[in-house]
Amino acid sequence: MIIKSAEFITSATKPSQYPPAKLPEIAFAGRSNVGKSSLINTLVNRKHLVKTSSTPGRTQLINFFNINETMVFVDLPGYGYARVPQAVRKKWGPMIEAFLSKRKTLKGVVVILDVRRTPKTEDLDLIRWLDYYDIASILIITKADKLSKNKQLKQQAAILQALAVDKQDAVLFSAKTRLGRDAVWKAILNLLENNSLS
Ligand code: GTP
Ligand code: MG
Repeated sequence: MIIKSAEFITSATKPSQYPPAKLPEIAFAGRSNVGKSSLINTLVNRKHLVKTSSTPGRTQLINFFNINETMVFVDLPGYGYARVPQAVRKKWGPMIEAFLSKRKTLKGVVVILDVRRTPKTEDLDLIRWLDYYDIASILIITKADKLSKNKQLKQQAAILQALAVDKQDAVLFSAKTRLGRDAVWKAILNLLENNSLS
């Protein structure tokens, strides 16, 4: 994928603050600190388009980015981080659910998991939500560089089993080595194409 432009549009917490719904959108969701923002930066070949942080829970707003004037990437705030204040955590559910249920231009969600961790309740809840709202999704298993090749494969199998999905439905990725970047783009373009009429 050739990236001609990648621009921050706006941040929002509620539908009235979303940018005009004109371009097809792909959202990125996953646990706090899993690497959502880093994945977006890798996809668009920018180190700092999206702020990344070693402190979990950094992204607390829905951030919209215009990519090539043809699609919008939506960086969703992460879930499941205990040290985020209770008041912030309580807002997460309604904020995300409003986006997932109301956004007509949303073509699919990239669900991101850490290769070292077995999916937890919140991950399963997210996947159930997507099913419930009939939103197409792809699964990315990131931070692959943190494990040996052998352990990557073992963990990938364990994660897919916990989620009851097939191997071909997931992409192993690393923002550090850029492993899987092309495969993620392919899957995203596929989401955009398959949902172009809806
Ligand atoms: P929140 O916005 O807080 O929910 O986090 P996030 O999911 O956007 O994660 P972010 O991209 O900010 O990354 C969190 C930390 O993980 C940062 O220190 C990144 O440098 C690191 N990280 C992200 N992806 C990778 C990866 O593939 N490999 C390695 N080794 N580190 C990564
Ligand atoms: Mg982030």
